[in-house]
Amino acid sequence: MVKPALDGAAITRGAAFAQRMYTERAGQLFAGYVLRDPLVRTGLRPWSSDPYPLYEQIRARGPLSKTSIPGVRVSMDHAICKQVLKSRDTGVTDPSQTGTSVRGPQEIDLSLLQLDPPDHTRIRRVAAPAFTPRRMAAYETSIEKVVHQLLDDAERQGTFDLQRTLSAPLPIAVISDLLGVPDADTDTFTRYGTALGSALDGISSIRQARRVFAARDALEDMFARLIEERQRDPRDDMLTLLSQADEGQISAKEILPLCQLLLVAGFETTVNLIGNAVYQLMANPQQWQLLVEDPNLAEGVVEETLRFDAPVQFSSRRANADLDLGGAVLKEGRWVVLGLAGAGRDPQVWDRPHEFDITREPGDHLAFSSGIHYCVGAPLARLEATIALRAIAQRLPTLHRAGKAPVRPTRTIHGRSKIPLAV
Ligand code: HEM
Repeated sequence: MVKPALDGAAITRGAAFAQRMYTERAGQLFAGYVLRDPLVRTGLRPWSSDPYPLYEQIRARGPLSKTSIPGVRVSMDHAICKQVLKSRDTGVTDPSQTGTSVRGPQEIDLSLLQLDPPDHTRIRRVAAPAFTPRRMAAYETSIEKVVHQLLDDAERQGTFDLQRTLSAPLPIAVISDLLGVPDADTDTFTRYGTALGSALDGISSIRQARRVFAARDALEDMFARLIEERQRDPRDDMLTLLSQADEGQISAKEILPLCQLLLVAGFETTVNLIGNAVYQLMANPQQWQLLVEDPNLAEGVVEETLRFDAPVQFSSRRANADLDLGGAVLKEGRWVVLGLAGAGRDPQVWDRPHEFDITREPGDHLAFSSGIHYCVGAPLARLEATIALRAIAQRLPTLHRAGKAPVRPTRTIHGRSKIPLAV
């Protein structure tokens, strides 16, 4: 018998999803355009193209302030954000809703990012060995090689889009290699990564929902097939490690979300670290000259970009007990949105916080978060971006802007959809 394409339950689920999505969207538009909530406006046009003035509006309201969303507070204060991230009395799930995470869209399982201990601790132990200093040293040569191949292509083109030519293909090549995805089709993988990354702010249209679910299903099928292959034919990659892990370390149904997270976290963020760094260097020509004269300043560029124009602008936590945050109280059960990028411009921590200065002493920015969810891929992201920036300065000293670089209309992930450049 031919299976019907849709059964009654699927139709009901679809309708409920559409209703929830449109109700959320309507609430957002009302809060942004009518109630003028600066936090909500960060995800709406025209404000999303430059959210930094909104962060200052939020800062001016105090270190911990109310939002138009019931039970949700917001902070741009470096000390408070750090305290919340490191506190044992905060988490990412809601115990009153049987521990389900309210972070990110409910339809997508983001593994570690949506887990509290003890599950978080157990799965993090499985992922961490892929990012040790020994592993990083082994990646260095292959990253150099990929960067120079991509720059050959940029030079040949003369005028090129940085995001498409270098910022996107580099992390995709590295994460494919780390996971063990063979001959990854860069375009397809890029599309999947972008679709899933766009869902971090929630899903706001049926078109986006279709793209996201198609990406999720396609990735699930691909990873399931590859894990099976690795069980038969082990290699030196993360998929082999996962295929050999026993149920006590990570269960079969936890493996796919972890792979999915590694793809999104390893790709969407690093693209924008490289893109935002080059964008800021082009906008600040004296800083670009400094880097051209001394390409070893690349590490400084990476740290300053993470502070000044962070690829991940927000995180959030739930208070699992009343928290005293420098005098302000966050009551148990409330959520706080943490402005990681706003904390990078906190005048109590940095002199001239709104200036991009690559010679600044590296400070304690929160671009990779802090506490138990501190970015596991931070050493890899730093390595990729430093190698790329050093090589760009060495090989393309006459680089300059060749068109508009529109900011993507996303709240959590911050970067440009294209950066046209010329040599
Ligand atoms: C510039 C690049 C990157 C930035 C800005 C970044 C930022 C972040 C942030 C802010 C978090 C924590 C979120 C929170 O506390 O709620 C995080 C977690 C994570 N990141 Fe990254 N990331 C980057 C690159 C990478 C790379 C290259 C990988 C892997 C290949 C990666 C894998 C992860 C994973 C697995 C987590 C979850 C850790 C946990 O929950 O314990 N990230 N990242």
